[in-house]
Amino acid sequence: MRSWKFCLILALSLTLLLGLATACKEEKKEGETPGATQTPGGLTGELEIFSWWTTGGEAAGLQALFDLYPDVCPGDVEIVNATVAGGAGFNARQVLTTRMAGGDPPGSFQVHMGRELTDTWVTAGKMEPLGDLFDAEGWSDVFPQGVLDIISYQGEPYSVPVNIHRANVLWYNKSVFADNNLEPPATFDEFFEVADTLKAAGVTPLALGDVDVWTAVHLMETVLLGSLGPDGYEGLWTGDTDWNGAEVTQALETFKQMLSYVNSDHSSLSWDQANDLVISGDAAMTVMGDWANADYEVKKFTDYGWAPTPGTDGYYDALSDTFGLPKDAPNPDAVTCWLKVVGSKEGQEAFNPLKGSVCARTDCDTSLFNPYLQSAIADWKSDVIVGSLAHGAAASQGWLTEIVDAATAFVTDKDVSAFQGRLADACVAAEVCS
Ligand code: GAL
Repeated sequence: MRSWKFCLILALSLTLLLGLATACKEEKKEGETPGATQTPGGLTGELEIFSWWTTGGEAAGLQALFDLYPDVCPGDVEIVNATVAGGAGFNARQVLTTRMAGGDPPGSFQVHMGRELTDTWVTAGKMEPLGDLFDAEGWSDVFPQGVLDIISYQGEPYSVPVNIHRANVLWYNKSVFADNNLEPPATFDEFFEVADTLKAAGVTPLALGDVDVWTAVHLMETVLLGSLGPDGYEGLWTGDTDWNGAEVTQALETFKQMLSYVNSDHSSLSWDQANDLVISGDAAMTVMGDWANADYEVKKFTDYGWAPTPGTDGYYDALSDTFGLPKDAPNPDAVTCWLKVVGSKEGQEAFNPLKGSVCARTDCDTSLFNPYLQSAIADWKSDVIVGSLAHGAAASQGWLTEIVDAATAFVTDKDVSAFQGRLADACVAAEVCS
């Protein structure tokens, strides 16, 4: 039989333990963000990362960030990879919009720097400001000021840029060019000469995969930039360039002419399937952002060359993928640590060589990047930078949707006058033109 002394000691010990446990619990509460799941042992719970990165290089880059997460964020967080397939995020954004409207945000989501971030989410009060995180991580010193300005609203940064992509790249099959004694075209006139030679040789000059029409809009924006120059192009988004003007007419005529050199099955292919035509040599060229470079890497294709799209030498048509912290996101501490990974030197050095982009940070080790990306790193420093239309930087989402709808009709009817009228109207509807 147990003695009363034993019982007393047991009772005292239990009281002490209970007291300690309560104290620990209270201490934890004080130091924590409400709703967070940080325990003394580290972060726990689920972390849902929402993106449209499903193709080879995209998925590989994302996985590299996931792999790094436990090193930077100790604990036992389960990452949920929530992807919605479809290039440039046109499908993903529809799902995201529904979720955000229904008060069901993911932990963090991929969003383009510029109007897509600011107009859609920040001014609507859907994102948390990240100034404290930027200060704690010293990020004001490692991101270029221009990038900091674009991700900020009323002095506060609202997302963490993981990369910089270039949209105005002409990719070509080197053997096809060599077999036909061709050089990559630098001007539109040269492009059409090269295209005629290829056509006569039975090769599709330009691969396009516009099952999602954004790729045609992507091609169009490079033509607008090459025709109007950076000031004229930027003026389209501020109202300074006349959408009804003769220069825009000329650019749209050039775009129309380019469309006459694409593969006949363009409307049933995605951007990466179009890239496959260049890889196989069935097509000689494609115009695509430098995620195409990651596609070549994943597919072990090395016989590619690159050049700025016609008329755009010295211009960098830029976009950036970023991640932020939505208001009321589940597990905000785990999300904040995800943002640390995304913005870190280690994270960007792991992600970008696989993704086909350059670091948004200025201090990455350039020797980690392939020759194309090294050329992009140099150009990013020296070129005139403009913001991409198809990838969320230049125009609000509503305006972009109007342009995509107009382009959908144009790709089929090729009616320049009707197209230009719709584009001009879209600028008015966006309240940028009067
Ligand atoms: C862009 C995005 C890139 C790449 C591409 C194709 O909008 O910024 O990261 O994924 O779409 O999906």
